[in-house]
Amino acid sequence: MARVLIKGGRVLSATGGQNFDVLIDGDEIAALATPGHFASIESSCDRVLDASGKYVLPGGVDVHTHMELPFGGTSASDTFATGTVAAAFGGTTSIVDFAVQRTGEDVHDSLALWHEKAGGNCAIDYGFHQIIGGVDDAALRAMADLATHEGVTSFKLFMAYPGVFYSDDGQILRAMQTASELGATIMMHAENGPAIDVLVAQALARGEFDPRFHSLTRPVEMEEEATHRAIMLAKVAKTPLYIVHVSAREAIETIARARDLGANVFAETCPQYLYLSLEEHLSLPGFEGAGYVCSTPLRSRAEGHQDSLWRALRTNDVSVVSTDHCPFCMKDQKELGLGDFSKIPNGIGSVEHRMDLLYQGVVTGEIGLSRWVELASTTPARMFGLYPRKGVIAPGSDADIVIYDPLGSTDISVKTHHMNMDYSAYEGIHIDGRVETVLSRGRVIVENRTFTGAVGHGQFLRRGLSQYLL
Ligand code: URP
Ligand code: ZN
Ligand code: ZN
Repeated sequence: MARVLIKGGRVLSATGGQNFDVLIDGDEIAALATPGHFASIESSCDRVLDASGKYVLPGGVDVHTHMELPFGGTSASDTFATGTVAAAFGGTTSIVDFAVQRTGEDVHDSLALWHEKAGGNCAIDYGFHQIIGGVDDAALRAMADLATHEGVTSFKLFMAYPGVFYSDDGQILRAMQTASELGATIMMHAENGPAIDVLVAQALARGEFDPRFHSLTRPVEMEEEATHRAIMLAKVAKTPLYIVHVSAREAIETIARARDLGANVFAETCPQYLYLSLEEHLSLPGFEGAGYVCSTPLRSRAEGHQDSLWRALRTNDVSVVSTDHCPFCMKDQKELGLGDFSKIPNGIGSVEHRMDLLYQGVVTGEIGLSRWVELASTTPARMFGLYPRKGVIAPGSDADIVIYDPLGSTDISVKTHHMNMDYSAYEGIHIDGRVETVLSRGRVIVENRTFTGAVGHGQFLRRGLSQYLL
């Protein structure tokens, strides 16, 4: 078993930072000690990594990715191999992806298919949530089986996308009641899909075809209303609720009110909703805005949604930042919606940039250092049954570690990223910091801007229940 010593760094956690040397034995962290404590065993270590002047933090946990997701007549362009290598470059060492079941499909078969796609193909550890796109008796029985035996303890439902993933309120309530019995977590895509479909049809009839109409036909009221409805249904079912990819200030306000009243409701947002906007990106001339089509949609900066999301990260009304990584190339994929915004596949790729983009929020004073770690690693691990194996640097935890250089810099560009995309939604954004070295279960998988790991190293994570259950 290889022994690795990381010395001289500042070890960060969700509660603070301390100068510690970290000793790794095989896959796990063996011990933390005051600087210099391990000097006598240094020569017996297989690797000694000097982290002087650097942060040493738990590897990122991205609990919302869609590698290879079939969507809108095509599939997300990152495979589990390309997507997890890109994630590693960005300091993310665990992902939780979504197995997809649709009406009439067997839930177990869909999970088996996702195991087939990911097994032996991941560079970092991975788990699955299960999308239930067809709630019926068999699917409800399968939920119990997955949560009890398969390490899949969270289920995503959709109030959007009628005819694809959509569940009606009765189906949602039944799935929530099942989750409540199991202690499982319901993840909700909260947008009023049937009403949005009417607005989309009306816009197309008026000749409104450009990408920006994607956002204009998904107004904040559609997110706010669905968020409120989901919270009420979860209250009746007595189940914890995690609302994914929140983008509207009004949805955050709805969630904050419910939390203030004691509801066990959590919100996730994503870098695209913090950095990108309707005016600056989705409304770019020609077809360029298509690269920014995702759901929930990018919102207006003039209306202040981005600012309110940063604020909610500080107040903990938003508890997790994941990516909803769902990349499509412009060529042949986003282009499916040339002349009709409703046919543009929904999704943006950012699995490689989440840790950096959130760190830039530390630099600009939006959040503190330990909040960075909490949002990107510790809380997602706790929320989805991975803690303390993931999400913390502590004895016995997996040695998933990022050495981050606050004096380095990163310029995001399609020319340098590793995601399988022919554009970058974050082109030209400068980060005042740099992922220097990444370890996954004790193995150095990124150093000197080079991938040194192996596709196939990543193991399936059987997850426990959320630590946020009441
Ligand atoms: O635009 C998005 N978010 N695409 C992925 C599917 C989803 O709803 O998460
Ligand atoms: Zn969604
Ligand atoms: Zn998603």
